[in-house]
This record gives sequence, C-alpha cells and structure tokens, in this order.
Amino acid sequence: MTLILGLETSCDETAAAVVRDGREVLSNVVATQHDLHVRYAGVVPEIASRAHLERLMPVVQQAIDDAGITLADLDAIAVGNRPGLVGSLIVGVAAAKALAWSLDKPLIGIDHVRAHLHAATLTPTKPRAAEQSDKAPDPSTSEIRNPKSEIVFPALGLVVSGGHTSLYRMDSAADITVLGRTIDDAIGEAYDKAGVILNAGYPGGPAMDKLSQQGDRNAEDVPELPISMLKPGSLDFSFSGLKTALLYAVRGLPVGRGKDATFERDASDLSPQRKADLAAAFQHAAVTAVERKIKRAIKQLAAEGVRPQSLVLGGGVSANSALRERVQTMAKNHGLSIHLPELGYCVDNAAMIAGYAHELLERGETSPLDLPVVATSRV
Ligand code: KG4
Ligand code: ZN
Repeated sequence: MTLILGLETSCDETAAAVVRDGREVLSNVVATQHDLHVRYAGVVPEIASRAHLERLMPVVQQAIDDAGITLADLDAIAVGNRPGLVGSLIVGVAAAKALAWSLDKPLIGIDHVRAHLHAATLTPTKPRAAEQSDKAPDPSTSEIRNPKSEIVFPALGLVVSGGHTSLYRMDSAADITVLGRTIDDAIGEAYDKAGVILNAGYPGGPAMDKLSQQGDRNAEDVPELPISMLKPGSLDFSFSGLKTALLYAVRGLPVGRGKDATFERDASDLSPQRKADLAAAFQHAAVTAVERKIKRAIKQLAAEGVRPQSLVLGGGVSANSALRERVQTMAKNHGLSIHLPELGYCVDNAAMIAGYAHELLERGETSPLDLPVVATSRV
C-alpha cells in the first residue's frame, strides 16, 4: 500500500489531498480563492501567492486529519510544479520540499496538465461516518463511473481548462502525445471572458453553463456563433473568434476608434432571457467545436491504423453539463469507454496530483530537492 500526499497551488486553489495506491482518495481539501479575485474578474497573481502562503499549511493539516493518518505514514510527497503562475507554484513546491526533506520521503514534481488526465480514475472521497447518510451520489457521474471500467489504451485524452485545451493520444497513463491544442484562448478562458461580456457572474465557466441552461439558441434573433475548425485536418482549437462574436452580439458594433471607442450597448441593456439565449448559443458553439475535433481525431487515427479504445477528459471545463452529455453520446456511438472525472475532481485539486504521482513513483521517477517551478507545461 502506498500513501501519497499531494499539494496543488498552481493558480487560485490551495489544495492538499492524500491518495492511496493512486486511486483511492482518503482526503481532498480545496480552499478556493474566488472571493479574493471576484472584484477583478480574473486571478491577480500577487494576491494568489499571498493567499497560498496563508492557507497552505492549514489545508495540509486538514488533509492529513481527514485521511486519519499522520505525516509519518506517508510514502511520498507530490506537488504540481508546472505549469502555472510562478509565484503561486513556488509556495507549494517550497512546502513540498520542506516536508519531503524533513520526513525523509521522496519528492515527486508533477505536470498539472498530465494530472488532469488522471482525475477520471480517482474514486470518490469516502464521506466521513457522520456525513454519510445525507450525502447523495453525484448523479452526473454515477452512471458513467463503473469502478471496474479501466481506461483501455490507446486512448484519446482531452484537457479542457482555464489554461489548456489540448487533445492527446495516450498510449499509457504516462505516455502521451499532443495531437492538437488551442492556438489562442483556452476554452475555460473563453468561458470566463464570455461570463464578463454577459455579466453572468464569476468564475464565468460555471455561471455561463448555468445561464445557458435557461436559454434557447434557436430563439428569435439569436445569431449563430462561429464553430472554429481551422484548416482541414487540423486538430488545433481556436476560441478567440467565438468570444469576439459574442462580444459583438451583446454590445453591437464599436462606435468611434482607438481608446475612445465605445459600443452601442452592454449586457445591462439586455433582458435576462436574451442573455440566457446568447449564453446557450455560446455554449453550443464551444462544445460543438470540441466534439468535432474529437471526431476528427478518431478519423485521423483510424487512417493510421490506430483505434482508440477510451476517451478520457479532465480539467475545469469537463464539469460542463453540455460537454459531459455530448461526449458520452459520442463515445457510445464510436464504441469508446468514457472516463469523466467526478465533478469535484474536474477543477484544480490535489487528489489528481497525488494520484498521478503514484504512476511516477512506480516507475522510479522521483524528483531532486532542487526541483524547479516552470510556467509552461511539457505537454
Ligand atoms: O482546471 P481548472 O480548475 O484550472 C486550470 O487548470 O485552468 O479550470 C478552471 C476553468 C475556468 O476557466 C472555469 O471557468 C472553467 O474551468 N469551468 C467551466 C465549468 N466549471 C469550471 N467551464 C464551463 N462550464 C463549467 N461547468
Ligand atoms: Zn487545472
């Protein structure tokens, strides 16, 4: 049995988790900083690093207590060391080094994007005895997640988050090759900006998802928003045109030029129903773009004689209701097994860090105590 403590501080969530044997989540603590960034409608790096500094050790203590273990029981300390905001990553990495050194346990640096692809294999945190009776199972995943269903390789992997929109060929949990990625905004970033344009709430992704469920993209005068496919054969993504099309649909055309430019109107001039209808049009275009690229990838791999067996999703946008529905149908139609994370493991968390670290520990891939932090991903 292997117990790994994971730390995650790459952006605006301060998180720690204990995972047994790579899958079984014994504790999963996430202290979100949304309250600190809401007034800026985006993450402010300096505020994020300071908040990590204040919150990390209490969060680690809580993860250890919730798991019912002591620090001495741990077999390794894992930490997301790339990609992310450098000032934020440093806080988690420094803490992980101190823990690994003082406990004399291996340190394992984790690529956050790879960890997102591990999230679908995590088993839910066991509710504590006192909470067990009133905890209903997560209805959006209870049908999909058959604990016996393993990812079968080769698989297609898709990370859709605030920083990434990338499609991968997975030959094992750790052997992954990029097939395509966004050439401009990440899908979550586009959702967050769309949330600002429509004044839908913060963070924009979940707010837009909720709003779009009350809307009708086929309602009168709702424009069709662009579904970007790029060049024929391209497996890359682009979401900035969609965001701009939404901006014009909401605000009308620019009036004036340069820094004096204004718009005909803004979101506060629209009725709640019109906002919901536009959110539905945005959601349809964003999700359809992803769906079409996955289908294109399946076709291209088939032409090379490769038949993916599973479709694995991860990242904050894999919590999106429309995307979850579409990929389940698509996987069924293409005979792929579908692996979606529990809702709590879609957005940033440390359970995915600790879980993926088990794969690396088994391969003997530990990190030196001078592990650097890196702003960009290797994948
Ligand atoms: O994976 P994550 O927590 O952080 C990164 O690694 O970037 O993803 C956060 C992103 C944000 O852009 C957030 O708005 C988006 O995921 N998100 C969603 C939903 N829930 C979170 N986007 C669309 N629909 C959702 N339900
Ligand atoms: Zn993430």
